[in-house]
Order: sequence, then structure tokens, then C-alpha cells
Amino acid sequence: MIISKITCIGAGYVGGPTMSVVAQQNPDIQITIVDVNAARIAAWNGEDLDQLPIYEPGLKEVVAEARGRNLFFSTDVDKAIDEADMIFISVNTPTKTYGKGKGQAADLKFIELCARQIASVAKTDKIVVEKSTLPVRTAEALKSILDNTGNGVNFHILSNPEFLAEGTAIQDLQNPDRVLIGGENPEAIEALVKVYEAWIPRERIITTNLWSSELSKLVANAFLAQRVSSINSISELCEVTGADVNEVAHAIGMDSRIGSKFLKASVGFGGSCFQKDILNLVYIARSYNLHAVADYWEQVILMNDHQKQRFAEKIIQTLYNTVNGKQITFLGWAFKKDTNDTRESAAIYVADYLLNEEASIVVYDPKVSAEQVYKDLDSLGTRSPEDNRRLVTVVNNPYAACRETHAIAVLTEWDEFKGYDWQKIKEDMKRPSFVFDGRKILDRQSLEALGFKYYAIGE
Ligand code: UDX
Ligand code: ADP
Repeated sequence: MIISKITCIGAGYVGGPTMSVVAQQNPDIQITIVDVNAARIAAWNGEDLDQLPIYEPGLKEVVAEARGRNLFFSTDVDKAIDEADMIFISVNTPTKTYGKGKGQAADLKFIELCARQIASVAKTDKIVVEKSTLPVRTAEALKSILDNTGNGVNFHILSNPEFLAEGTAIQDLQNPDRVLIGGENPEAIEALVKVYEAWIPRERIITTNLWSSELSKLVANAFLAQRVSSINSISELCEVTGADVNEVAHAIGMDSRIGSKFLKASVGFGGSCFQKDILNLVYIARSYNLHAVADYWEQVILMNDHQKQRFAEKIIQTLYNTVNGKQITFLGWAFKKDTNDTRESAAIYVADYLLNEEASIVVYDPKVSAEQVYKDLDSLGTRSPEDNRRLVTVVNNPYAACRETHAIAVLTEWDEFKGYDWQKIKEDMKRPSFVFDGRKILDRQSLEALGFKYYAIGE
């Protein structure tokens, strides 16, 4: 099977960067990324590469190289399906907000819509690649829809989960630890291996059966999130015993069996994957009556919720048990640095908690818009949109954000926060001047020397 045209359905955080790099590395393959969201496609096609719909370091350079050569963005989904030899499905699979499995199972309606559309349009054989993270055995459902509603052509389903992390997506794609391809048809698998072999050594491309591939993605995210919850649980213990969580993390991380990565204590993990994938794992385990397994993984989420709440409570307690009418400045709203993605960001939940106590919050994030901040708060449904706009202000200048404020809370580990003129911030703040560092990025000694009351997770 020779692949000359690839279509990717879904131009989001996964589809956009992934297919841009595939196009960059395979100039002979024509790649079209399609999306039903016309505004998003227009932004991908925009002249100004600083206004791409996704902020990722290095992305604009890749798009500049490949766009118009062999990389195209379009809203014409049918045409792109019709032309393609291989179709990646990279649409969103949020946690269900209704019905059976509400709050836990993945909502597969977007995937199913894609499958039905592919089936109705395709007039030649296609390889269909699952790129979105999906519950185990989704490929089976996909195959059933394709085979039963299609025009009698052959579909080969492959699972090819994406392991990129936002903020480092381009380097993760250029130089991945491994690429995982699950499937049944050896020729279809080989066709996809060839696409990746353009830049990735063969020994890093693993092939497995479909179910192992689908499950491995959920398990990889569960293990990573578990490490964060584990170190966060220890951060609370450190705060009462006098140990420093960074020192503990360093000491245990030097054991090569444990390893040093993903041991950074924080206000809690966020992002579109960790919580969703663990909830999904829990849901699958429960659906097979494996309650001990489900309970075990659920604890990772419970610890994460606890960490976010604990951080908010620490702020309230330190501010003399009331934040009513007090201004609290949030530095950072994104779920991690170097992305404009805010899905499941700890900042949203910490803000919600403080707003329930009638705090007024000022937000500064280098890449997140005011519109997004309000959208995130409104989607919680805790209070009216008017109240969210009354209590929360979003500004685009960090010094203005900190002026006359009672306390600063660091929610995202953006590098620029470290380089601020903290003396100037101190002069313009209310006294005592509190800093709550949910990412442990600021320097205690110099802040204390300036007269700040400094609190950091795990110290
Ligand atoms: C994750 C997986 O890393 C990636 O392989 C998968 O494809 C998608 O999910 P992502 O969510 O983009 O990627 O970012 P990641 O770097 O994993 O961080 C997730 C969250 O954990 C962030 O909120 C981050 O701040 C937090 N985190 C991470 C910590 O709090 N401490 C750490 O040590 C590491
Ligand atoms: P992810 O982080 O998984 O990439 P995003 O929400 O960023 O998730 O991107 C998913 C994209 O998929 C969205 O831009 C959405 O408009 C698009 N999408 C969802 N369903 C369809 C569909 N049936 N056809 C085309 N695009 C779709």
C-alpha cells in the first residue's frame, strides 16, 4: 500500500501539530487537515503565523515550511475523505456530561459522526487511523459502523495514539520516545510505519494488536498522572514535617528505578488528557466489575482534587480566614507553561473555590484570552456569567494585575514570572504582601528579603 494522500479530521491540539510535522517530514505526501470549525481553519490558513489557533513553541516554523507545499487546511471534509488513502481521526473525545457514564466515560459521538461520514463518502479502500485517545475496543465499534454503512469498500483500522505533551509538542513529535501502532492488517500497519520511518528510527516504532495499543495510551497517562498525585500527596506531608518536597523528589528521582521526571509537586495536574483518561480507565474497570482496580486509579483523581482545594484553603486561611472582597492576583491560567490550552487547568478550580468565598480575582496569563477565562468559569455553572464578570478581571499586564492586590497566586509555571521586577510588585501591593507559589518557581530567599510572605507547595 502506497500512501500519497492523507487526511486528518480534527484541527485541534493533537491533529494540527501532529499532521504539520508528518507533512514537514514527508514532502511527497499531500496532507489535508479538515475541521467543521470554519474559524479554526481560517486561523490555520491565516497570513499571520503568530495568530495560529494553537500556541506551541516551534509550530509556526513547521507550518511556514509545509503549508501550501504539501500541507493544507480545509473545511471540505467530504472532498478530503474522498481523496485520501489514509484518514486520521483526531477529533475531541470529552468526558460525557449526560446519561450513562456521565462524568466518567468518554463521549464518542464525534468519533461516530466521523465514522459515518467516512463510510458514506468513501468510494475506495481506506486505512482509518485512530489518533484521538479512545476507550479500549473503540476500534471494534468503528469497524462495525464503517463495514455496515459503507459502500462496500475495505477499511483497515489502526490505533496510533499520540503521546505528545502540549508545550513541547513539536520536539516530542520530531523526536518521540516511541511511536505505537496497533492493528490487525500487516500491510496497513506497514503503510503507517513507512510514514513515520521518514524521520523516526524503525526500532522506536512499536507494533501491537489493536487493544494493546488503545489500552497503552490510557495506561501511559494514568501512570504519569499517578506520579504527580504521588508527589503531591507527599508535598502535604512535607509542609507539616519540615521536609522540602523538591529535596525529596531529587533524592528519590536519582534512583534509576524511579527516575527523575514527573516528580514536580504542583497545585494539581490539568490538561485534556490525564483526568479524562483515568476516569475512562476507572469506568472500563467498573464495567467489568473490577472494583478494586477502579478504586485504585480513582484515588489519583481524588488526590488531585484535594491538592487544588488545599491550595485554595491555604490562601483563605493565611489571609486571616476571609477573602471576602479581597483581591487575589492569579499569575497563569493555562494548565501548564508554553500553551494557551486551559482545559481542566487547576487555576479554574482554585478560582471557583475562592469566588465562592467572594474573593475578587485578577488574572494575568501571557497566552490566555479574557474570553477563554470567562468561558472556563461559566462552563462550571457555579454562578451566573454576570457574577463571573463582576468578580473576575483579566488584564494583559502583570504589574497592573498585581497593583493594590492582597495576594499573588502562581498557578502556571511560565518562565517569565521568575524574571519580574518583584521589588516593584512589592511596592505596589497591599501589606502584608502574600505570594502563594503553586508551582514552586520563585526564589524564597529573595522574595523574603524583599518583605514578601512566601508560601510554596511542599515546603
Ligand atoms: C499528557 C502526556 O504527557 C502526553 O504523553 C499525552 O499525549 C497527553 O497528556 P499534557 O497533558 O499535554 O500531556 O502535559 P503534561 O506535561 O503531561 O502535564 C500534565 C499536567 O501535569 C500539567 O498540568 C502539568 O503542569 C502537571 N505536571 C506534570 C505536574 O504537576 N508535575 C509534573 O512533574 C509533571
Ligand atoms: P484535541 O486536543 O484532541 O486535538 P481539540 O478540541 O483541540 O481536541 O480538537 C478537536 C477538533 O475536532 C475540534 O477543532 C473540532 O471542531 C473537530 N471536530 C470534531 N468533530 C468533527 C467532525 N465530525 N468533523 C470534523 N471536525 C471535527
